[in-house]
Amino acid sequence: MTLCATCLFGVESLVADELRYMGFNNVRIETGRVLFDGDERDLVRANLLLRTAERVYILMGEFAARTFDELFEGVKALPWETVIDRNGQFPVKGSTLDSALRSIPDCQSIVKKAAAVRLSSKYGLNRLPETGSVYQIRFFIMKDRASLYLDSSGVSLHKRGYRPASVDAPLRETLAAAMVKVSRFKGREVFLDPFCGSGTIAIEAAFAAVNRAPGLGRGFAAEGWQTVRRELWTEEREAARAAEYRGEYRICASDIDPAAVKLARENAARAGVAELIEFSVADALKTELADKLMPPFKRGVVITNPPYGMRLLDAREAERIYRELGRRWRAREDWSFYILSSSMDFEKNFGKTAKKRRKLYNGMIQCQLYMYF
Ligand SMILES: C[S@@+](CC[C@H](N)C(=O)[O-])C[C@H]1O[C@@H](n2cnc3c(N)ncnc32)[C@H](O)[C@@H]1O
Repeated sequence: MTLCATCLFGVESLVADELRYMGFNNVRIETGRVLFDGDERDLVRANLLLRTAERVYILMGEFAARTFDELFEGVKALPWETVIDRNGQFPVKGSTLDSALRSIPDCQSIVKKAAAVRLSSKYGLNRLPETGSVYQIRFFIMKDRASLYLDSSGVSLHKRGYRPASVDAPLRETLAAAMVKVSRFKGREVFLDPFCGSGTIAIEAAFAAVNRAPGLGRGFAAEGWQTVRRELWTEEREAARAAEYRGEYRICASDIDPAAVKLARENAARAGVAELIEFSVADALKTELADKLMPPFKRGVVITNPPYGMRLLDAREAERIYRELGRRWRAREDWSFYILSSSMDFEKNFGKTAKKRRKLYNGMIQCQLYMYF
């Protein structure tokens, strides 16, 4: 099968690194997605193990679709029966961009009809029961080219299952994992997020340190598919648990807001890494980095997203924070800093040009990860 891991813009190469590390060959990077070849077991592994991808799809096919006829014939020609069983439900979702086919509802009903015609004829049924598992079909038509997928993840992979939905504008888990991955943190130095909010970055750092598979605490759409053997999920979950290790770690997270720290603690407990993270209520502008270093740790890494300041008053406060952080942090040789900010003036306020920068999107907000190492 051609498998496809979708991701946030700017994260593609990290997803590709993860896939290569997992042993996949023929990994192809495109905008917002990474293609790779694999079988059912690989689909299971990708869902359970990928830290920085949003969903894992099966790419069923791609073809030119300038008219509804082309769309219908193209969809009908794809081998849906190799994945969707005779009782399967196959709802259709999709989007179009820069294409002659613009009406999403029309495209949706054509894709549905064409897949139904194909499956009815392959299964010899006049009417498909659609009473079984859900095989979500996704179409994406861009510049008159249609891509047809089946969604094996279901709920997006950034939802690991440790964070309730209620939290105010937190960082996406996959973005936090991307920041940790860029820093190459594996637990060998002190970790600190002094603006931890709901604790996402520290939790993802703990996952990286112990090699925890991020998908262990949740389920996936393809677990209900008859075409992916049940035991693969059990086997791969067991293999993932067996691949975890425990060492000596110092992972610290703090926030000025006691309610945030309480929530972060609860999230870490749900994630099963509470005992690995030292939480505290603290003002980041008064935290001494030197106090965090203790034997055997001689070096530290700060990975954080301080307040953004989207509104004007908040923006002034954010600038004040960046200036103060710069004053305290910029000359330190024993620490590395990975700071996510949407401010164009971050470096000016921090008082030091980053060694590297990486464009990342936190939802719709374009940010830069400023790296000092
Ligand atoms: C953008 S949020 C961080 C979100 C976090 N990454 C998450 O995943 O939920 C910024 C956080 O900084 C905290 N904060 C603001 N000023 C602070 C200060 N001086 N010291 C420590 N934390 C502060 C806020 O309470 C807020 O939780």
